[in-house]
Amino acid sequence: MDRYDLCRALARDAGKLAHRAFGTSVVSMKGRHDVVTEMDREVERFIRSAIAARFPGDAIIGEEDGGSNGERLWLIDPIDGTANYARGLPRYCVSIGFVERGVPTLGAIYDPSNDWLYSAAKGQGAWLDGQRMAVSPIADIGAATVECGWSMRRPSQAYVDLLARCMNAGAAIRRSGSGALGLADVAAGRAEAYAELHINAWDCAAGLVLVTEAGGFVNDFFAGEGVRDGNPLIATNAVLAGKLAEIVGIPTIS
Ligand code: IPD
Repeated sequence: MDRYDLCRALARDAGKLAHRAFGTSVVSMKGRHDVVTEMDREVERFIRSAIAARFPGDAIIGEEDGGSNGERLWLIDPIDGTANYARGLPRYCVSIGFVERGVPTLGAIYDPSNDWLYSAAKGQGAWLDGQRMAVSPIADIGAATVECGWSMRRPSQAYVDLLARCMNAGAAIRRSGSGALGLADVAAGRAEAYAELHINAWDCAAGLVLVTEAGGFVNDFFAGEGVRDGNPLIATNAVLAGKLAEIVGIPTIS
């Protein structure tokens, strides 16, 4: 089994494991509006041990147990959309990305509620199960839907300003609580863009590969200390990229 096969198989198996405790796993708080469940930890352990058994030399960073960077790096979010998951809202996923020498090359996102597996490998296209994905062709910001991700890591006013700028430009906005699924929606052409003032690498590593391979545009997320500290993110189609970057105030190149 190569890394791409492992990435897809693990995302699916881990998602099925998570789904067993959907809405019932014991919850604790990592911070204000920052939830973790027992299942987040169990799923991360499951994914880590499978990767370590197959590729013992690879580095792993996960949302719950951390880790350190390496030339071949796996970035794991065992449950993305944890607040939804914990409350029994069926919008969450497992996200597994693989980055080689700073370049995101593999990604798999499994949405257990719909039994949808999104996957992409550099140069091999982006797929939703057996169907090839392509980003939306919409070029008019006035006809675009932009998902604006939110967390407590940036001031509330900065988020309100982001929403206002998107709405004043004529876009529809959305926030559904899973950055990884937000990126999968952009790859699948269900939203024109995803923007967030700060997101962590494990939330978006897989989604970046999906959007790029679906013909979309993403900013240089892994610039600087993106792996360790996270960065701002925009993901959209090539025609909207410049305009949207201006609107949300996130540079296309860092
Ligand atoms: C969060 C979600 C959210 C995004 C945040 C993430 P979590 O991840 O993806 O949509 O806006 O930046 O932290 O806590 O559900 O794994």
